Amino acid sequence: MAIHKVGVAGCGLMGSGIAQVSAQAGFPTVVREVSANALEKGLGSIRRFLQGGVDKGKLAAADMESTLANLAGTIELRDLADCDLVVEAAPVNLTLMRQLFGALDGLCRPAAIFASNTSSLSITELSTFTRRPDRFLGLHFFNPVPLMKLVEVVRTLQTSDESTRAAADWCRAIGKTVVTAGDSTGFVVNRLLIPYMMDAIRVYEQGLASRNDIDDAMKLGCGHPMGPLLLADYVGLDTAYAIAEIMFDEFREPRFAPPPLLKRMVLAGRHGRKSGRGFYDWSTNPPS
Ligand SMILES: NC(=O)c1ccc[n+]([C@@H]2O[C@H](COP(=O)([O-])OP(=O)(O)OC[C@H]3O[C@@H](n4cnc5c(N)ncnc54)[C@H](O)[C@@H]3O)[C@@H](O)[C@H]2O)c1
Repeated sequence: MAIHKVGVAGCGLMGSGIAQVSAQAGFPTVVREVSANALEKGLGSIRRFLQGGVDKGKLAAADMESTLANLAGTIELRDLADCDLVVEAAPVNLTLMRQLFGALDGLCRPAAIFASNTSSLSITELSTFTRRPDRFLGLHFFNPVPLMKLVEVVRTLQTSDESTRAAADWCRAIGKTVVTAGDSTGFVVNRLLIPYMMDAIRVYEQGLASRNDIDDAMKLGCGHPMGPLLLADYVGLDTAYAIAEIMFDEFREPRFAPPPLLKRMVLAGRHGRKSGRGFYDWSTNPPS
């Protein structure tokens, strides 16, 4: 069950990164978007990332060229038909997933492996939209994909050893380090990270310490590269809130519950770095 050709459904933040690292590692890669505009936006971000590497001397111009030569963009789902692995990186929406995976299941070879990059949906539920639950798994990449080394390979009760091995081998071939996890909301990283971030916001909300002191405490006391409130701003407060809600719903444990302050900040449009304001003011550099 070797993977030669790779399809990526979605060329947004995550899909563009996944398509890029796949093509960069020498795999012919087709990335599918829903419109020519969205495709051009995604491919443009890949080109800019690669050009940035060339400009900084981190990437040879020839490597940029060969990466782009391995990469094809399309808005036609049928162009993914001959892929050995299709990685979905589309918006979190079950109706969309049902339609997308159902259509892919009809188009692709029975032997092809399907993967979802979802952070929050159940891989088991997504696999029911196909007739190949043994060749269905999660491949959870981290943002920014070209820089973050980890992929969580998520197995359901039905994922076969063979397809797990083939998908994990592909992840290693594109330069990633793999950890394997069961299909439980949050997998390993978010299972540990979300309660930590929610607790940090609770500590701030309760006035136990200032924002800077909370972040300095974890940075200097635990050797973390950044504090939890700055990290939450990077993740996006809306994203962190949505994941916490889904995890709270799944486990019904208070440690996953998003604090009221987080909900208020999201409602007020303070989504962190991407909106210019979260726990920090991002209109200044560095954020203050
Ligand atoms: N953003 C993160 O930090 C992060 C990290 C890990 C995993 N994820 C997961 O990755 C997935 C995508 O997130 P994102 O941040 O890249 O979202 P995004 O909104 O940046 O990108 C999604 C893209 O999918 C496209 N799309 C919509 N319907 C499609 C279809 N039917 N076929 C192909 N493309 C379609 C959209 O046009 C959009 O460009 C989600 O499941 C999310 O949980 C996100």
